[in-house]
Amino acid sequence: MKLIKAIIKPERLDAVKSSLEEAGFFGMTITEVQGRGEQKGISLQYRGGTIEVDLIPKIEMEIVVKAEKVSTVIEVIKKGAYTGKIGDGRIFVIPIEESIKIRTGEVLKE
Ligand SMILES: Nc1ncnc2c1ncn2[C@@H]1O[C@H](COP(=O)(O)OP(=O)(O)OP(=O)(O)O)[C@@H](O)[C@H]1O
Ligand SMILES: [Mg+2]
Repeated sequence: MKLIKAIIKPERLDAVKSSLEEAGFFGMTITEVQGRGEQKGISLQYRGGTIEVDLIPKIEMEIVVKAEKVSTVIEVIKKGAYTGKIGDGRIFVIPIEESIKIRTGEVLKE
């Protein structure tokens, strides 16, 4: 199993979520986060002045799937989160050892 951790623009969450659902992926954890990438934040023009924003609000999606599903999930996220502008986000893939369902005791290991 792999943990797919995607940091995306908040306004793309609904699109990504519904595309994932259409593709058969339902389980996920969503967290409101703040982050920055290569631009080290952004400059905003505001009331005639410039404001430097260091950390920008983003949505972090965590989705655990079988390794064979990783490329599908990545494609769905890329398509749904894409605007073509800076800050569209990044996707990280992390190994997961086990997933245990508390209600039934079911253990998934791959
Ligand atoms: N090296 C990193 N480590 C951890 N998180 C990161 C890293 N780079 C980006 N992120 C996270 O991803 C979010 C989105 O990053 P962003 O899309 O700006 O990446 P980027 O590499 O700067 O690409 P772009 O040039 O398209 O803006 C950041 O707000 C941050 O939360
Ligand atoms: Mg960036």
